[in-house]
Amino acid sequence: MLVRRLHGWRLCGYLQQMRTSRLAKLSHQVQIRRGKPTDLDALLELENQVFATDRMSRRSLRRLLASESAVAMVARAHGAIMGVAIVLFRANSQVARLYSLAVAPKYTGRGIASALLATAEKIARSHKCRSLRLEVHERNRGAIKVYRRAGYHEFGSYRHYYQDRGHALRFEKQLSDVR
Ligand SMILES: CC(C)(COP(=O)(O)OP(=O)(O)OC[C@H]1O[C@@H](n2cnc3c(N)ncnc32)[C@H](O)[C@@H]1OP(=O)(O)O)[C@@H](O)C(=O)NCCC(=O)NCCS
Repeated sequence: MLVRRLHGWRLCGYLQQMRTSRLAKLSHQVQIRRGKPTDLDALLELENQVFATDRMSRRSLRRLLASESAVAMVARAHGAIMGVAIVLFRANSQVARLYSLAVAPKYTGRGIASALLATAEKIARSHKCRSLRLEVHERNRGAIKVYRRAGYHEFGSYRHYYQDRGHALRFEKQLSDVR
């Protein structure tokens, strides 16, 4: 059964859209739920595993997990956190921001990032946001592939945005007509 209830969210619409091959890769054991303060250690470990630079500190992560203007969604299986997506909201703005998307190396290639992204979009829509934006390192081909495949389009860039002075590409997806 590949339909899971996740704090009131259902992934079924998204899963119905996934190609059969990708669906087969996403184990039915994977659950996506909202992150909790008790996930802090595991999320910090994931952050350190996945990002070589521009890492979030323990303090920043703790603040995000407690913040009313942020939602962290974690993908879990067998008690382990496999990945996380963090979405930020601003008062009086209909634009949400995907602040972080990360999947532990041993779980990549199974559609987990794509599932987290779809969940992030549902959450943004529930906050009445009309679009979701993100920044991605210009050389991050894996992530860019995930975003393009999910319907994001490039609309700008920030020069020397990252600690390695790499440029960020800005991507956006309109959510209002997405069901
Ligand atoms: C990028 C990332 C989130 C993808 O997670 P994932 O769960 O493997 O993503 P999915 O399984 O949904 O899709 C991965 C796709 O990208 C492809 N891919 C992965 N690395 C790639 C690369 N270097 N170049 C091109 N494509 C790549 C895979 O082949 C796969 O495509 P396929 O299904 O057609 O085979 C994960 O690798 C990650 O956490 N990377 C480090 C952190 C990061 O870069 N986060 C994004 C910051 S903006």
